[in-house]
Amino acid sequence: MNELYNMIYKRKSIRKFDSSLSVSDEELELIKSQFEKVIPLIPEIKIKFEIVKKSETTAKYGEYALLFYSENKDNYLLNAGYVLEQMDLFMASINIGVCWYGMAKPKSDFGSGLDYVIMLVFGKSKETDFRTDFSNCKRKSEAELFSGDFDKEILNLVRYAPSACNSQPWRASFDDNKIKIYRNTKVKSFIPFVKLPYYNSLDMGIFLCYLEIILNKHEYKLERTIINKNEKDSLGWIEIAEYKL
Ligand SMILES: Cc1cc2nc3c(=O)[nH]c(=O)nc-3n(C[C@H](O)[C@H](O)[C@H](O)COP(=O)(O)O)c2cc1C
Repeated sequence: MNELYNMIYKRKSIRKFDSSLSVSDEELELIKSQFEKVIPLIPEIKIKFEIVKKSETTAKYGEYALLFYSENKDNYLLNAGYVLEQMDLFMASINIGVCWYGMAKPKSDFGSGLDYVIMLVFGKSKETDFRTDFSNCKRKSEAELFSGDFDKEILNLVRYAPSACNSQPWRASFDDNKIKIYRNTKVKSFIPFVKLPYYNSLDMGIFLCYLEIILNKHEYKLERTIINKNEKDSLGWIEIAEYKL
């Protein structure tokens, strides 16, 4: 995933598309072949994608939608976020603008027995449509999200992961030997309360993808454990994963 690192500075949600541009057949093939190369977080979970025209969905923008389907097993949303964020970053590298789109749904079932999870809408964009100064985008401060004394550049960069309604549910403690990752169940967001665990679990998978790309780039060796306890601590945080460094 190392090759995706620079795209962390470039990607952003793209919702306006120039109708004079379109995604070429070659680009569609590239996207399909990239999906075969993504690294899953949990390889045992069966996943599938389908690329359809926007008109096959209720999405309001984009030329196409990448529909994501999965077996509904433990941590399947975490896996979905982790896999699809690799696609989001890859598409930025070929100037395909993407927006994660939880509000839209496919009009028919393309899942062949797997559960529909979420879509990324996309369309051809110009280099200038992407982020040029990523420090301008709104994110919570390091102090609000993280504790511990760690490489400041890493703590700064990992905050730029995208999340549903920019809710940024991730919290983490860092030390030289171990990183612990939590989902804050008390985020303030426009997302209806009952839907928060769903979207924020996808967000946590996105965050793990960002964290691993950034740590790998800084040559950390990682040993990841996914935690399945699903218990809130006194702050309302649920531990999701631990990394031994
Ligand atoms: C799981 C998920 C669902 C999202 N759903 C929508 C959506 O339905 N509509 C939309 O306009 N943006 C959606 N977004 C995009 C977020 O609003 C966006 O990522 C966030 O505000 C951060 O901005 P950025 O992506 O430009 O960095 C979604 C993002 C994620 C990760």
